[in-house]
Amino acid sequence: MADNSGGKPLRLWGGRFEGGPSDALQRLSVSVQFDWRLAPYDLLGSRAHARVLHRAGLLTDDELRRMLEALDDLEQACKTGEFRPTVADEDVHTALERGLLERLGSLGGKLRAGRSRNDQIATDLRLYLRDHVRRIVSRIVELETALMNQAEQHADTAAPGMTHLQHAQPVSFGHQLLAHVHAFARDVDRLRDWDRRAAISPLGSGALAGSSLPLDPQAVAKELGFTAAAPNSMDAVADRDFAAEFLFCAAMIGVHLSRLGEEIVLWASQEFRWIEMDDAYSTGSSIMPQKKNPDVAELARGKSGRLIGNLMSLLTTLKGLPLTYNRDLQEDKEPVFDAVDTLLLVLPAMAGLIATMRVNTARLEQSAPEGFALATDLAELLVRKGVPFREAHEAVGHLVVYCQVNDKDFADLTGEELAKVSPHFTSAPAAGVDGTDLPGVREVLSVPGALAARKAYGGTAPDRVREQLAALREVVDAQAAWANGNA
Ligand code: ARG
Repeated sequence: MADNSGGKPLRLWGGRFEGGPSDALQRLSVSVQFDWRLAPYDLLGSRAHARVLHRAGLLTDDELRRMLEALDDLEQACKTGEFRPTVADEDVHTALERGLLERLGSLGGKLRAGRSRNDQIATDLRLYLRDHVRRIVSRIVELETALMNQAEQHADTAAPGMTHLQHAQPVSFGHQLLAHVHAFARDVDRLRDWDRRAAISPLGSGALAGSSLPLDPQAVAKELGFTAAAPNSMDAVADRDFAAEFLFCAAMIGVHLSRLGEEIVLWASQEFRWIEMDDAYSTGSSIMPQKKNPDVAELARGKSGRLIGNLMSLLTTLKGLPLTYNRDLQEDKEPVFDAVDTLLLVLPAMAGLIATMRVNTARLEQSAPEGFALATDLAELLVRKGVPFREAHEAVGHLVVYCQVNDKDFADLTGEELAKVSPHFTSAPAAGVDGTDLPGVREVLSVPGALAARKAYGGTAPDRVREQLAALREVVDAQAAWANGNA
């Protein structure tokens, strides 16, 4: 930050003070080093406020014109870096008022009428977040798309489906990838719902009680893209629900990224060998030349910690605050900015990792039936023959033990062996059961057969996976349109 504070520093509250602030207070109080990123949003609010002062007869036509020109010029100067905050500017509002005074002289001092930093900062943060939530959704859409493209390639690829990280039942690998897409799609849905509640404008609430000047908060709200002005000025300056709710949404996204990250770490391991990561999205070791490490996935997993921490931090700050504004509320910004920065950092890296990973189809298909993963299919065949599930479960359990003792897989068993373990495997269907469409034991013990059989809605049958994918593509298209402002 530039230190051109040679002259008397501008303070927005100097009038009743005889002495200046101590260094310690100044260092504690200053927020411009992090709230400067709100400058574009503060300037938007300033334009709307200038117009409303003009409509109230508090600025002449000429004053409004000069004010808007100066705000444009200041915005340009902020963009090019020609205007920068100094260490003497307490916060973004102070810095921008200094910029306005430099351009307009005393006319610049008229803009503060009828507003306070309390309604300004609440407005700025809402504007910033509504804008950045759309950027975050665009990045989630890229990750969803990468997952869906892989799922499309692998709807027919059988994989070991797991519970307790143990082989459970074979699944379509595409089905598993789409499970992650559903989680991220809910995250986007949550952010869109958040946006509806966040679209309320605090401007006009002043410090806490509104203004005696004839301002028009509803007009300002509309101009800034909000749906309405806040109906209670005290709530408006004290409320940070929108920040806490955003941080919950961010933490949930972090948790989803972390779970996906953990799977990637497993899949890329020597033990799994389900995927190979592209060089562009993996790292090496400074000592072990052979290493290819899943750092992207690990950082996604690791950074979920700070996303969860940011939520805890803000909730703790808010707890117990009396109405209305308290300076504690300045502590809302760093967790929010950190959450935004973290997501905008992690999401593109994860999207790239997923888009470029190579799936080891042969390895997945070979391991899909391992660990007697078709045991449930065999038990369900017996059920369809009329055997009570309890007995079927028991019979297949014995078969697993028989295989383990004799070092065999289900597929190696002869008819005699099956009959020896339980007559249910080879006996005819029970009286009254129509066995014409029943598959044989051999057919049931095929992985593609097992996948195709799970064809009820929501199941892992490849045809259902393709339908699921088509429906998700529509959902994600709508999310992309919303993020681009077309919905
Ligand atoms: N910098 C403050 C914040 O971030 C806004 C200024 C309000 N300050 C005050 N003393 N009323 O919340």
